[in-house]
Amino acid sequence: MNNQTERTLVLIKPDAVQRGLVGDIISRLESRGLKISGLKIIKIERTIAEQHYRIHQNRPFFPKLVDFITSSPVVAIVFQGRNAVEVTRNTMGQTNPSEATPGTIRGDFAIDIGRNLIHGSDSIKTAGEEILIFFTANELLDYEVSTDPWITEP
Ligand code: RTP
Ligand code: MG
Repeated sequence: MNNQTERTLVLIKPDAVQRGLVGDIISRLESRGLKISGLKIIKIERTIAEQHYRIHQNRPFFPKLVDFITSSPVVAIVFQGRNAVEVTRNTMGQTNPSEATPGTIRGDFAIDIGRNLIHGSDSIKTAGEEILIFFTANELLDYEVSTDPWITEP
């Protein structure tokens, strides 16, 4: 990985898995120019969800958020690429889908803040911490594809 490449954690949330939106969501991030470094489908345990969302532990919506994210399988993905954290966040759209711009994932497919389809790390530092919650080092691959120089100027 060169020093301009970042990694970010994406969780395709239970609502998106149940609604059959996994392929569409991956496709949007993939076509943007991000590369899949790791991927799995998991049912998140409560203690892991509480750790992942610990920054929100005193917020009123915390219990419902943990209930929701543990309610059904999620697809966990590490995406890699230039500015991966920011690019993923702006492809997702605003946290509240009612305010998300059409063309974004949330702006096209969601309407409720409690059913906003996707999680993406909000900073490089958070990404590093969150990736460690869901993936071991040997589950993450760094590989070249022939389109690399057509996506990012070397
Ligand atoms: P996420 O962490 O899931 O990627 O979403 P985010 O960064 O866009 O939003 P964040 O502020 O981290 O909030 C985490 C999740 O909590 C739920 N939430 N509900 N009812 C509310 O006021 C409220 N605020 C946040 C959302 O599902 C949000 O994705
Ligand atoms: Mg967040």
